Amino acid sequence: MTSDHPNARPDARPDARPVPGWDRSLLPEADFEFVVLADTHYMLEPGEAAVEFSSRRLQSERADRAWQVAASLGCSDVFHMGDLVQEFPGTESFSAARTAAIEQFRGHGLDPRFVAGNHDIGDKPDPTMPTRPVTSESLADFHQALGPSWYGLDLGPLHLVVLNSQIMNGSVPEALAQRAWAEQDLAEHSDRRLVVMLHLPVYLDRPNEPSLGHYDNIADPDRGWLIELLKRHEVELLLAAHVHCSFFDRVGSTRYRILNSTSFTRPGFCHMFTSAPPPDQGRDDAAKLGLLLARVRESRIDLHWLRLDEVTGFGGRLKAGWRNVVTRLPSTPPDSPLALTLAHPLATRTEIPLAWPSAIRQQVRNDYPLLACLELGAAAVKVPASDLDDPFLVNRIEVLRSEEVKIVASVLWDETQDLPGLIERHTGRVDTWEWQLAGTDQPTESQLEMLRGLQAAGLTQALSAVVPGAIIPGRQHPRTSTGFSIDALIQLDAQLTRAGVVLDRVACRLGPGPIRVDELDEMVRVRELESIRGVDWQLQLQGTGDRNSAESAVMSLLATDSVPGSRLFIGPLMDMDRTMDVRDGLLDSLCNPRPLFNALRCLNSILSTQRTAARMHRARRWDWTVSDRGVVGESETLAVVIPRVPLEGSSLSDLVGEWTRRTGRFRVYDLVGCKVRESGPDELSECLGPKWLDPLLMVGLSVDESSTGSDGLDGHAS
Ligand SMILES: [Fe+2]
Ligand SMILES: [Fe+2]
Repeated sequence: MTSDHPNARPDARPDARPVPGWDRSLLPEADFEFVVLADTHYMLEPGEAAVEFSSRRLQSERADRAWQVAASLGCSDVFHMGDLVQEFPGTESFSAARTAAIEQFRGHGLDPRFVAGNHDIGDKPDPTMPTRPVTSESLADFHQALGPSWYGLDLGPLHLVVLNSQIMNGSVPEALAQRAWAEQDLAEHSDRRLVVMLHLPVYLDRPNEPSLGHYDNIADPDRGWLIELLKRHEVELLLAAHVHCSFFDRVGSTRYRILNSTSFTRPGFCHMFTSAPPPDQGRDDAAKLGLLLARVRESRIDLHWLRLDEVTGFGGRLKAGWRNVVTRLPSTPPDSPLALTLAHPLATRTEIPLAWPSAIRQQVRNDYPLLACLELGAAAVKVPASDLDDPFLVNRIEVLRSEEVKIVASVLWDETQDLPGLIERHTGRVDTWEWQLAGTDQPTESQLEMLRGLQAAGLTQALSAVVPGAIIPGRQHPRTSTGFSIDALIQLDAQLTRAGVVLDRVACRLGPGPIRVDELDEMVRVRELESIRGVDWQLQLQGTGDRNSAESAVMSLLATDSVPGSRLFIGPLMDMDRTMDVRDGLLDSLCNPRPLFNALRCLNSILSTQRTAARMHRARRWDWTVSDRGVVGESETLAVVIPRVPLEGSSLSDLVGEWTRRTGRFRVYDLVGCKVRESGPDELSECLGPKWLDPLLMVGLSVDESSTGSDGLDGHAS
């Protein structure tokens, strides 16, 4: 436990491993913050007894870590979304397990508020459910031990309503009492920003999905009643849990987030991934476990998913003094330099096979790619325009867009195509249309005419080119490139100027192959463009192996950020492990982050903050040095080291010795670990563990920041 959080008790769990503190300095100010965690499933120590799944033995320790992390965030309001224990009411050990679970969070100085789950009071009233439904006795027992199961409270600018999903549609008299209370409470607080929390999801995939035999939703009539209530009162946010899987949707204007567990994943949902099952029959997909930091701002509630393994995992890499970096979301202005080109659909729908505890097949969406776009803080996502003709994908794209991610729709340009008709059909869904010249990088006269007409009509448009013939070492057939080369871009600009056409953006490719310094140096040529307002650099990750990808992507993002008006589109988001050109993505085939995902998430946040601080009026100049030991980049205020071999702290320190001495005090970011600490030239080698192999970014502190000892750019670290 950290010593600097207000909930810390000096005698609390002295044996607990410390959780690094937090750095929110890359985030805008929030009016209010609260923490939400779900499905901790504390389990009494089974000792030598056999357990059904080996990962069950980890549940209590994971629950403990989750409470520890919740406490370390320093928020006075912590909510538990239900399923405090693995036992369920009526079993012999239920009471003892709950008592031990209560001791566990009290040991961290926490006094959370609770949402009632099926493991707390009983199953929903469905005759196929595995345990008995809620009784007045189990309900009274919960109320006595953990407080009310339906209630409202004011939380900063919010009014929060907690509902008991387990009694909905049930025969206990409390069900009707809750209904009447909820209607009255929401009506009385209709002038406030409203949040509703409950354990069971209202639905998983769609509002009209079946419920009898479905383990994970609320049945009608209460489902319909609740949805109508959300719409009538324009509830801003609905939170649910229970499925141990993340989902994100909108119910009318209500953002609807279902939280993963802190302790284990539910196996059936792994069928949504094109991968082998995660460990323990899919029950131990540990990278997905986490909790939510909700930051209430004027325009929205920012939902930061904090992954427990990343937050707590030093893994022996780092010494004390490092803090976890909370990174930006797309809704945090201004636009970040990072964008994504999607090779896969934004979401897929899967029928989970018929398996216990459900008695019917469950249809679900895979929302992990969409949530990853948000977690990365991506400014824009490029999809093929054909996705806009698929109602399922249109819905997903609209959800992404409502989270402030810009949508670029690409069209392979067939001159017989009715572009005005296409644009008209998708009015309000697209931020930029990207026309891709097919097989050439030179637009025809009629294409220039079309571009001119669309420009006059006020359309935001980009131009790209899809050209075959790139010779790639080791490949029998030439490959097809997307985007203009820099030379072709310069020629295009001249052609556009002669034709009187101005384009908002043009796609320009980097690579293929590892990014070279001379290629990055060439990027500044686009500053002289006359008829192209901005460049979307395209980087396709190549091959497998995180190290090479990290070098190319980190260098490209830094270089992109140094050219005003540029964005970097990276792809693929997810692994492509069954194609002619196998590539690692930012996410693996379970949609879990690869190291590069975190490195870009962290770097994107740092660069966005630098833009916010209005330090980017002019282009930043980078000096690159490449050696067998690694790549070093230096600018006036930033320096980056991307090792190629494991480096000891002292040799790493030598690589940037001149920059660090010139800079004095600086902040050093472990990009993959999303960790930060302050350092000076003489401390750097001491900060790092042995054999360091991940990218590090150093950001010079201004004199003001150094002298105040602040650990945050805006003094907002906590
Ligand atoms: Fe659960
Ligand atoms: Fe549950």
